[in-house]
Amino acid sequence: MTRRRIAAANWKMNTTPGEGAALATQLAEATFDSEMIVAVPATHLDRIGQVFKNQQNIKLAAQNVWYEPKGAYTGEISTAMLLDCGVSYVLVGHSERRQIFGEDSDLLVKKMNAAFEAGLDVIYCCGEPLDARDANQQQYYVNGQLTRELATLPFEYLDRLIIAYEPIWAIGTGRTASPEQAQEMHASIRLFLETTFGAVTAQKTPILYGGSVKPANAKMIFAQADVDGGLVGGASLQSDSFVEIANSFSS
Ligand code: PGA
Repeated sequence: MTRRRIAAANWKMNTTPGEGAALATQLAEATFDSEMIVAVPATHLDRIGQVFKNQQNIKLAAQNVWYEPKGAYTGEISTAMLLDCGVSYVLVGHSERRQIFGEDSDLLVKKMNAAFEAGLDVIYCCGEPLDARDANQQQYYVNGQLTRELATLPFEYLDRLIIAYEPIWAIGTGRTASPEQAQEMHASIRLFLETTFGAVTAQKTPILYGGSVKPANAKMIFAQADVDGGLVGGASLQSDSFVEIANSFSS
């Protein structure tokens, strides 16, 4: 079975709305042969939603969502607000949300369910910290995350799930997992999917690698059997480098 090939950008808290619109316009004018998903700051969503409106291969993602439909949640953003801006995907479980903002498994499950129920697709992020890697506990650690956060997901949502494996020690550090390390973890995540949800889900769910993906290393990483693309932070802030990454899939 051939799986989707996805280059996902995570701009994090970078660019002003004007700079973001310019970058989005460059991406919309570029040529590439994979699916692009671009996660932009909340202040940019409405404007970039217009830029991507008629694009077939570029979809807009939000970096966060709240799970209640509306009400007294100062500072938060609902699924209806995202949908109205043209958002198709939302990131859930990014390590920065877990570590800096204290998001725990219970909250992530609520966010994922609310997003799916509203019709948004989810890019669910997982990955181990350095001490787990140093202790050779990375598979055990990530399996724990998957068990707590994905195992109860209703079956009907699974075909709208994308997983991003992002070892925390490789995010923004310039230290990338080797292609072999990425493949080993992706295979282990796919095995979890097979055991939990069955072979069909395991075969079709895209699993992206994230953590210092650059034009110089994307080809080697994307060439691994269980790597279906990347979730790219720093190197997605320049259109040239992100488009090059989006063109790094072997034909
Ligand atoms: P990075 O970020 O590419 O800058 O390491 C990846 C991510 O956090 O999604």
